[in-house]
Amino acid sequence: MLTENFTKADIVARYLPEKLIATDQAEAFAPSNIALCKYWGKRQSELNLPVNSSLSISLAHLGTRTQIRPSQTGEDQVVLNGQLLPVESSFACKVISFVDLFRRGRSYPLIVDTRNNIPTAAGLASSASGFAALTQAINQYFQLQLPDAVLSAFARMGSGSASRSIYSGFVEWRMGLQEDGMDSHAYPLDIIWPDLRVGLVKVSTAVKAVDSRSGMKRTVETASLYQSWPAQAAQDLEKIHQALSDGNFSELGAVAEHNAMSMHATMIASWPPLLYWQPDSVVAMQKIWALREAGVEVYFTMDAGPNLKLLFQEKNQALLETEFPGLEVVAPFEASESLNSSTTTVKEPS
Ligand code: DP6
Repeated sequence: MLTENFTKADIVARYLPEKLIATDQAEAFAPSNIALCKYWGKRQSELNLPVNSSLSISLAHLGTRTQIRPSQTGEDQVVLNGQLLPVESSFACKVISFVDLFRRGRSYPLIVDTRNNIPTAAGLASSASGFAALTQAINQYFQLQLPDAVLSAFARMGSGSASRSIYSGFVEWRMGLQEDGMDSHAYPLDIIWPDLRVGLVKVSTAVKAVDSRSGMKRTVETASLYQSWPAQAAQDLEKIHQALSDGNFSELGAVAEHNAMSMHATMIASWPPLLYWQPDSVVAMQKIWALREAGVEVYFTMDAGPNLKLLFQEKNQALLETEFPGLEVVAPFEASESLNSSTTTVKEPS
């Protein structure tokens, strides 16, 4: 086990240049991502260092665009989806304390203007794309010129899953071994599956009672079943790599679904129990299993919430849109104008 010695301030002092040179304005986009092998559990909570490596698919044009410009009032302002937030709101506090890490006590009052185009009704977490876009915008605004791996490590300090949202396509976040966590960052995988589709099944849009951060803490602290998780996650990661290099969609889908269900098993084995599912989540699962019995290749994954994310191929899109009315379909490898705009720092897989 690693020690808790390193704080975010230590990392900043070690890895950021002393001098800040502010520009007039900076803007960056980062995609949301869905893990196929989940991050669940931390070995160090201050820096969000994970117990296991994880692997995700980024959601192309669905994500967060963040602009930073100087504030003329002398006070920080945080704008979310066009609405100025009270500085004491929890979202504004998170944003300002993250920006403070980089300012290190120097006076640079800023307007942080952030917009999510993730359908809020889909119940998708925006913290991954939010912290990734914020890290990239700060990097540009203060002309830090940090390499992507360092950006990914800093985004991870905001929210673990944000480390993966620095890149598009398939992305692996390797857990790393260093005590300061700087080897715990994401890598883009050089694999493109143009016919892969991710479908968002909206079961509930209500704010969840227990967020991922508290949920994973409770699981690690109270579920003895959690002891089996690190080995299972490591095996699943290997299998996903194999499926990706073999171009084997069925194997990819099966391992991703098994991985998600295993993570949920550890949640349910926590005390008090964490059951993120709603009755309609189970209805959707049973429908997917029935479709598979009938020969339709469709799999699902779920995060710390009741909504399902379907994994399928383009050839089954029309059928699944009929089976799941309101299904929001994303083509992760589809070229998108917003991704390719000049202000975007997201890298396309080569
Ligand atoms: C179930 O990245 O939101 O979605 O690091 O505490 O901010 P913090 O947690 P977060 O957890 C995501 C958990 C997950 C699985 C995943 O995305 O890998």
